[in-house]
Amino acid sequence: MKINSHYSALPAHYLFHDIDLRVQTYLTQHPGARLLRMGIGDVTRPLPRVIVDAMQRAAEELAHEETFRGYCPENGYEWLRQTIVDHFFLPRGIPFHPDEVFISEGAGSDLGNLSDLFDRENKVAIMDPTYPAYVDANIMAGREITLLPCLKENNFVPDLPAEPVDIIYLCFPNNPTGAVLTRDQLRLWVDYAHRNHSLIIFDAAYEAYISSPDIPHSIYEIEGAREVAIEVHSFSKSAGFTSVRCGYVVVPFETGLQPLWMRRQCTKYNGTAYVSQRAAEATFTPEGQKGIRDNLCYYKETASLILNGLREIGLEVYGGENAPYIWCRAPHGWNSWTFLPSGLYARSRFRPLWRRICPLLRLRQPSIRHRSSPPHPCLPRITSLTRSVSSAASSLSACYHPSSSSIVSDVIRRFSQKIPFSYFSVPKNLHISKKSCTFAADLFL
Ligand SMILES: Cc1ncc(COP(=O)(O)O)c(C=O)c1O
Repeated sequence: MKINSHYSALPAHYLFHDIDLRVQTYLTQHPGARLLRMGIGDVTRPLPRVIVDAMQRAAEELAHEETFRGYCPENGYEWLRQTIVDHFFLPRGIPFHPDEVFISEGAGSDLGNLSDLFDRENKVAIMDPTYPAYVDANIMAGREITLLPCLKENNFVPDLPAEPVDIIYLCFPNNPTGAVLTRDQLRLWVDYAHRNHSLIIFDAAYEAYISSPDIPHSIYEIEGAREVAIEVHSFSKSAGFTSVRCGYVVVPFETGLQPLWMRRQCTKYNGTAYVSQRAAEATFTPEGQKGIRDNLCYYKETASLILNGLREIGLEVYGGENAPYIWCRAPHGWNSWTFLPSGLYARSRFRPLWRRICPLLRLRQPSIRHRSSPPHPCLPRITSLTRSVSSAASSLSACYHPSSSSIVSDVIRRFSQKIPFSYFSVPKNLHISKKSCTFAADLFL
C-alpha cells in the first residue's frame, strides 16, 4: 500500500483542528480557565423554536411504521430542493430546477468533495487568506495552486489571475477578512471565467450577513454565471446549524457538471439526515426566518461592538459590516506567534503595548500578581459593552499564517476583565503566503 503522497504537502493538522488541540492543551495546563473560543466560526445562539419543533416531529415520524423512512435520496428530498429554489433563488429572479440543487451535510464537505470532479492537471486559483479547506482539498489532489493575494491595497478583493487558471475559488462575504464583492466586481470574475473557460466555485456560506443592497447574495445574480459557476451554501452560519449539519450545492445544468456531481454523490454519499432536512425546510417558514434574523442581528451587533472597540483603541480594522469577520492588523509588526495574549503578561517586551492600550480602554493594566484585586471603577461601563461579548464568546481565530497576529482575544478579554487569560494560537507550517500581515477574528460571540 502506498499512501497519497500529496498528503505530505499538507500542514500536519487542519487549521481548526490544530487550534482545538492547542486549546485543549492549554485547558489541561490551566484547569478552570475561562476561554473565549474564537478558533472557528461556530454559532452560540439557540435554534429558533420552529426549527427544533420540526426536528422533533421528524424524529417522531421515525418511530412509527406508517411514517418511518430509510435512506434519503442522495441529492436530498425534492420538497427541500424546491423550497430552496422558491424561497432563496426565485425572489432574486433566479429560476433553477430543483435537480440543480444538491442537499448535503454542510458546505465544508461539499467544498472538499467537489475536487473529485476535476482532473489533477487543472490549475487552481485561491484567495489568500481564505477558508483553508479549498487549499487543503487541492493539495490532497496534487493540483497546482496559485494564491491570489487579498491585501489592504486591493481592499481584500483579489486581482484577476495574471495567467489563465481553470478553477477559481471565491468566498464572499469572506472568511476571514470580511470583504465583500459588489455586482460589478463579481461580473469581472464571471467574464474572466467565460474568456478563459474556467469554473468558479463560489462559497456563499455567509451571504445571510449581507445588508448592503449592492452586494450580491448569489453569483447567479450576475448574468452568464450559470455556465461558469457552482455555488455552495450552508445552513450553519445563516441558521445556526453547525451541529444539525445541512448545506447545499447548486450545479447548474449549463455547467455540464450536474450529471457528474449526481453520479459522484450516488456513489460516495448516502444522503443527508431526514431530521436535518426537515430542520432546513423549517428555516424558510415565516417564524424560522424571523428567528434566524434575530440571531443574525445579535451576531452583527457583536461584530460592530468589536469593530468599534478596536477602532477606538487605534487599531487598523476591516470587515465586520456585511460579514461576521473582523480583520485587524497587528501593531508594531508583531505576529501571531509573538503576540499571544498570555505572552502579553509574561513577556516584558509587550509591556509598552499594554501601557499604550490600557489607558485608551481606561482599564487597569492587568498583572499576574494582582489578578484578584478589586474591580476597577470603570468596570460597570465595560461590563455593559461586554455582556454580549463574554456571555457567549465562541471563537478566536485568528490566524491564517505566521505573519498574522491576534489582538482581538486580548481586547475582548480586557473588555470583559473577568477572564485572566485567554488563549490564542496559530498553526505551524501554514501554506498561505506570507504577504498578508493581518489576522481574523470571527465574531460568533
Ligand atoms: C467560508 C466557509 N465555508 C464553509 C464553511 C463550512 O460550513 P459548514 O458548517 O456548512 O460545513 C465554513 C465554516 O466555517 C466557512 O467559514
